[in-house]
Amino acid sequence: MTVADPHATRSAMRLDVVSIFPDYLAPLDLSLIGKAREDGLLDVRVHDLRDFTHDRHRTVDDTPYGGGAGMVMKPQPWSEALDHVLALDNPSGDKPHLIVPGPGGQPFTQALARQLALEPWLAFACGRYEGIDERVYDHAREDLGLEVSVVSLGDYVLNGGEVAVLAMVEAIGRLVPGVIGNAESLVEESHEDGLLEYPIYTKPSSWNGREVPPVLLSGNHGTIAAWRHEQRLARTAARRPDLLHASHAGPHGGDLEIAAATPGDVPELAVLRRACAAKEVVATGALDTPALRETLDDVRAGLETGQTWVARIAGRLVGTVRTTRTSGTSGTSGTSRTGDSWVAERLCVAPDLQGGDVGPRLLEHAESTAPDGIRTLVLRATAPDADELKRYRKAGYRLVDAPSDVPGTVTLARRRR
Ligand code: ADE
Repeated sequence: MTVADPHATRSAMRLDVVSIFPDYLAPLDLSLIGKAREDGLLDVRVHDLRDFTHDRHRTVDDTPYGGGAGMVMKPQPWSEALDHVLALDNPSGDKPHLIVPGPGGQPFTQALARQLALEPWLAFACGRYEGIDERVYDHAREDLGLEVSVVSLGDYVLNGGEVAVLAMVEAIGRLVPGVIGNAESLVEESHEDGLLEYPIYTKPSSWNGREVPPVLLSGNHGTIAAWRHEQRLARTAARRPDLLHASHAGPHGGDLEIAAATPGDVPELAVLRRACAAKEVVATGALDTPALRETLDDVRAGLETGQTWVARIAGRLVGTVRTTRTSGTSGTSGTSRTGDSWVAERLCVAPDLQGGDVGPRLLEHAESTAPDGIRTLVLRATAPDADELKRYRKAGYRLVDAPSDVPGTVTLARRRR
């Protein structure tokens, strides 16, 4: 019997792989994915499809109806294999999302990897030969109630799904919180925000007559960031023009999408908050700003308080705000002394987009989610500068004398219109 660990905050993501070549999946024991399995972050189980055959030759394929080249995988071993996976250590009858790798599927992208990394349980069915009898897909969807997705690694044909599963498990697994120690590295990566990565260099600065670009030795972080952005654009234009989107042309282009934060947003959210915390330190001189010491676990735990919202432009996380409801007085003279207030706090915008419309749009969104009956909207702003205070005034907010437990934080409030 296993006893639930009362300290466990999250159970491992479960990944089942069914294949006629289970040994092909041995690399899943290695490197970061192997370590994540050892650490209990990923629960990977590999099954041999031939264990679900009943003939002497352990047959899994047969000739195609209607004629044609090659062989087709028989439905019966697949149905028994799926039943086995569903019954294994699954007392609550949960259902995995079934992924069938195949060249005819939807493209596997970083965005899809991010989406799949949020699922608690994925099962992969590795086809071989010409593929799997179509009725297996219908059975999985209609009789077993599974979500089934056919996913392609790229526009070329592999001999089977195993290589694709290795690639997908690696891309998905490394996005599971805790698998990559340095969450910042997840953000500064090719494809994370729709652009390829900039060129990188290490010591020595001069090697074989080749010099590191002088800007990288300048120590000027602003110039370096601008140079890297230029390089990313140039590289993406040269190698992957299909990825270039108008939103990359300037900081204000592209559609802003605001959505409820999920655990998959935590690494990017932590980096964004750090950037805002650094600004607060500069503004207040208070090096002990708690936000500066916030860990990934703190950010994850913070998602339990109220509702955290994230704003993205072309996939890049560019802002966040949290809404909570407080009861009773807000300590304000001109506003509500009774009844609940709707509080927007931890409003944070990526440094290169501050002063634009991301902040106001997040604030508007936060206000729009206030439940009926709320009369007072409260904004807790940390170390706002004069321009920000002016913008809040324009939005109808006035400073109030509520005491704040976070240094440098001011409280503003306005009546709900
Ligand atoms: N199986 C065969 N070819 C494939 C591909 N391109 N992607 C995923 N699975 C496959």
